[in-house]
Amino acid sequence: MSWRAWCALGLAGLLAGCGQKPAPQGVTGNPVRGRLALTQYACHACHQIPGITGSAVHVGPPLEGFAKRRVIARNLPNTPANLARWIREPQKIDPHTAMPALGVSEEDAKDMVAYLLTLD
Ligand code: HEC
Repeated sequence: MSWRAWCALGLAGLLAGCGQKPAPQGVTGNPVRGRLALTQYACHACHQIPGITGSAVHVGPPLEGFAKRRVIARNLPNTPANLARWIREPQKIDPHTAMPALGVSEEDAKDMVAYLLTLD
């Protein structure tokens, strides 16, 4: 796991440097709350997510490396807004996707995005 993910978890809060790096442009959510929200909505029932304990599931792709990815869901540019849109309404982006809409609130989606974008 990257140092930024550790920072997001608050585990490395004592380390100098944590929290000094600005969040990626467009990220307004709270990564600590986002990590919690990812478990509350049971995203890890289908996805392996770095920093979140779960069984080795592969229904959906592992949610990793978002800090460096250019596209998500095959053809969507990886921006915070697109990621949040996908999390809330995947069918509006790809009507055939197997990813269900889980009724994620706008606030929770922003927090999840803030966490996912710490993963590199
Ligand atoms: C029922 C299983 C299931 C659940 C629950 C689920 N997903 Fe997914 N997810 C999928 C599948 C399947 C895909 C691949 C979809 C596709 O490419 O059409 C996917 C794709 C994604 C992607 C794009 C991944 C990539 O590599 O581009 C993201 C981001 C994502 N899911 C986030 C979430 C979040 C956040 C939650 C919780 C709110 C969640 N998922 C819950 C099945 C699920």
